[in-house]
Amino acid sequence: MSSDRPTQHIIGEAPAFLEMLEHVSRAAPLNKSVLVVGERGTGKELIASRLHFLSKRWEQPLVKVNCAALTESILESELFGHEAGAFTGAARTHIGHFERADGGTLVLDELAMISLRMQEKILRVIEYGELQRVGGSETISVDVRIAGSTNSDLQALTKEGRFREDLLDRLAFDVITIPPLRERVEDILPLAYAFAMNMVSELDLPLFPGFGVRASSALLRHDWPGNVRELKNAVERSVYRLKDKSRQITEIAFDPFDSPYRLRESRRPVSEAPDPAAAGHRHVLPVNLSDRMKSLEKDLVDAALRRAKFNQRVAADLLGLTYHQLRGKIRKHELDVRKPAS
Ligand SMILES: Nc1ncnc2c1ncn2[C@@H]1O[C@H](COP(=O)(O)OP(=O)(O)OP(=O)(O)O)[C@@H](O)[C@H]1O
Ligand SMILES: [Mg+2]
Repeated sequence: MSSDRPTQHIIGEAPAFLEMLEHVSRAAPLNKSVLVVGERGTGKELIASRLHFLSKRWEQPLVKVNCAALTESILESELFGHEAGAFTGAARTHIGHFERADGGTLVLDELAMISLRMQEKILRVIEYGELQRVGGSETISVDVRIAGSTNSDLQALTKEGRFREDLLDRLAFDVITIPPLRERVEDILPLAYAFAMNMVSELDLPLFPGFGVRASSALLRHDWPGNVRELKNAVERSVYRLKDKSRQITEIAFDPFDSPYRLRESRRPVSEAPDPAAAGHRHVLPVNLSDRMKSLEKDLVDAALRRAKFNQRVAADLLGLTYHQLRGKIRKHELDVRKPAS
């Protein structure tokens, strides 16, 4: 439940990512609770650890608890500990995570899943720095800094009465929001190479021949709803599935379930299968095809530029074009290539 890996390398140089790291460095030395929020797989656990290792508490314990994985009563005795005989099966005294993290940092991962009763108990520890083990009467003082992490909208949960506002106020002295991977396209290939190299060394392969143009462009074009974890899995899967390990990767194995025989939840009877010819009804005809193609091209180039935060090399990759081809299309459609002032 707790892991200490101060050396884990964080990769990312996109402006939005560097700004977030800067925020971490500023918040880390304070003795205040900080929330780390972001979509699934964005690196919340990694950033919560960084908060600890950049703080004055870095030599003290870092303890992590996944609040979503435990039932209320187990979470209670994991967090606060219990005395021997507190309940059936409690043979020995158990020291909880708050006590273990004394002097250091306690990461409450998936914090939105904590029940209202546990939230109240946590609030009291934050408020008074004191707790009692389950079944105990002794008051124990602790000095713990809390870093919470979640991919839920805690403010919305407080409005619905599912998260205590007073606890949120205390936990969120500041909030670090990790940008999703699709907002930092520049980081995709450096992360992909790092994950591929790790897999190559795990497989004891002599070298990594790299990603082919098609594979790189597929990596850049993908939307990454599962963010860095999804990228890591897709890259590692692609490396290990490679039949000829001396050749470049040409295909990315995005979906491990992909198979001609894959199971589907509901199979339509053949008679109900959509008629491909009927798809034509979605389009209004007649149409001027060349005007339509021109406008589609303009929209796509514009979308790629925005997605790439106006980095033209990245935008060219997103469209499978060379830099010079992209420049030609920008001129042709007289597109604005300046980043709008924010
Ligand atoms: N910037 C990064 N550099 C290197 N590795 C990263 C980076 N961000 C995330 N990872 C890796 O991606 C994986 C997912 O990260 P992590 O578990 O911290 O995400 P998370 O936001 O906590 O995910 P979840 O929402 O599913 O709990 C881990 O293997 C982590 O090491
Ligand atoms: Mg996590």
